[in-house]
Amino acid sequence: MSDRYASFAHTAPGRALVKRLGLPDPPRLRRYHPGDPLTHGPVRLDAAPGGRLVEPLAKLLTSAGVEISDPNTTPVGPDGTARPDGSDGDRTPRQAALLFDATGITDSSGLRALFDFFHPLARALYPSGRVMVFGTPPESCASVREATAQRALEGLTRSIGKEFRRGITAQLVHVAPGAERAVESTVRFLLSGRSAYVSGQVIRIGPAEVPEVDWTRPLEGRTALVTGAARGIGATLAEVLAADGARVVALDVPDAGDALARVANAVGGTAVQLDLTAPDAPLRLADHLADRHGRVDIVVHNAGITRDKTLGRMTPDRWDSVLEVNLSSQERINDVLLDRDLIPRGGRLIGVSSIAGIAGNLGQTNYATSKAGVIGLVQSMAPVLADRGITVNAVAPGFIETRLTARIPLVIREVGRRMNSMAQGGLPVDVAQTIAWLASPGSAGITGNVVRVCGQSLLGA
Ligand SMILES: NC(=O)c1ccc[n+]([C@@H]2O[C@H](COP(=O)([O-])OP(=O)(O)OC[C@H]3O[C@@H](n4cnc5c(N)ncnc54)[C@H](O)[C@@H]3O)[C@@H](O)[C@H]2O)c1
Repeated sequence: MSDRYASFAHTAPGRALVKRLGLPDPPRLRRYHPGDPLTHGPVRLDAAPGGRLVEPLAKLLTSAGVEISDPNTTPVGPDGTARPDGSDGDRTPRQAALLFDATGITDSSGLRALFDFFHPLARALYPSGRVMVFGTPPESCASVREATAQRALEGLTRSIGKEFRRGITAQLVHVAPGAERAVESTVRFLLSGRSAYVSGQVIRIGPAEVPEVDWTRPLEGRTALVTGAARGIGATLAEVLAADGARVVALDVPDAGDALARVANAVGGTAVQLDLTAPDAPLRLADHLADRHGRVDIVVHNAGITRDKTLGRMTPDRWDSVLEVNLSSQERINDVLLDRDLIPRGGRLIGVSSIAGIAGNLGQTNYATSKAGVIGLVQSMAPVLADRGITVNAVAPGFIETRLTARIPLVIREVGRRMNSMAQGGLPVDVAQTIAWLASPGSAGITGNVVRVCGQSLLGA
């Protein structure tokens, strides 16, 4: 589904009109292409006094080939010439990302350090630049004052996401004490074009053993099951996981057999035609995975349906079918795969929720219930599976350009597209890349998280 308004706004006359009339101005987002560097420019890294992350972050950035800019760099004027006294425009050299370690902030007066760092740099980011603030999860803080200040970081990052615009994203990364070495996959994901449509999120990282990761093909040697892989987000996900090195098992209903075969062939994977709601689906799937691969390292429950009606007009079969596909069948499959020990240590369970599951949505009581259930599943299973070394997370997409959203009536569709900090819908690849990050062996410290891929949608924000 193409966004004609955005295409027009990117032309010269379109840009002029958008500016003159004050219309939404969807920026071109920097998306990942194989071989891209993590950033297109230097990053600024600083910390509040006592920060425990600034050193590991500096090491990580340097080893990843990212240039850390010198905080004492002389400001330049609008003509690019140095202004040692900061006069005449005081333009700070452009940065690709601003990273601030706020773990040293132990009370509300310390929050001033945020203003001191970000205020002079507020206009210094390139388009599609990145802001990351690193904090301590409030529940891990030593005092009430510290927990209060650390919780306050969320207001800053969410507001920056809304203020900076131009495709710039802003996140808060809560890193538990002892998890300092488990942050690399997240920093790489957030710096890169893979996170183009993720903004205003709070990501939690806990302590974990992180193995050596080949960052060019992090999923090498892993088997990944993708349900609903014949089209939309699932088809793109199969491509992205395969490009990251995974052997993909693509599953969809028998009716979608031809499209499914095309996807599986294109990524060198296998196809499984199966209706997930069939009573024998979990056993048949488990047998297939056991016989063909001996295990499954990554399970992505992506298949989903909508059957919209307001509650008073909803028929029982609309309610039941949505709950069955989007939630109950996933529970049954997880149970069988786990009972038969087919998901090994280092395994990843990833659900696909929706912002409707967070905010609710008119005409979608069934869908929103099922998608909130996915969040419940993730949060309740994460601690249970921690001992087995399996992480459980979900993505919650907002408005993504697929057949599902193409069916929404024009005016509502146009509103849905623009009501976010990026002023545009996301693409299936944005969801797929976020899932690939959660699936990475480097993301061992991330469990129980629900990450929205919604361009910081105003819904449920
Ligand atoms: N597109 C969006 O804007 C958006 C937003 C939020 C959440 N999501 C979620 O993302 C996921 C993918 O969405 P999409 O837009 O790609 O949808 P889509 O309709 O294009 O694809 C869904 C796939 O799931 C398959 N499927 C449905 N029922 C099945 C069953 N019983 N057994 C096996 N396969 C089945 C379909 O055949 C289809 O190929 C869904 O869970 C959806 O709820 C999408």
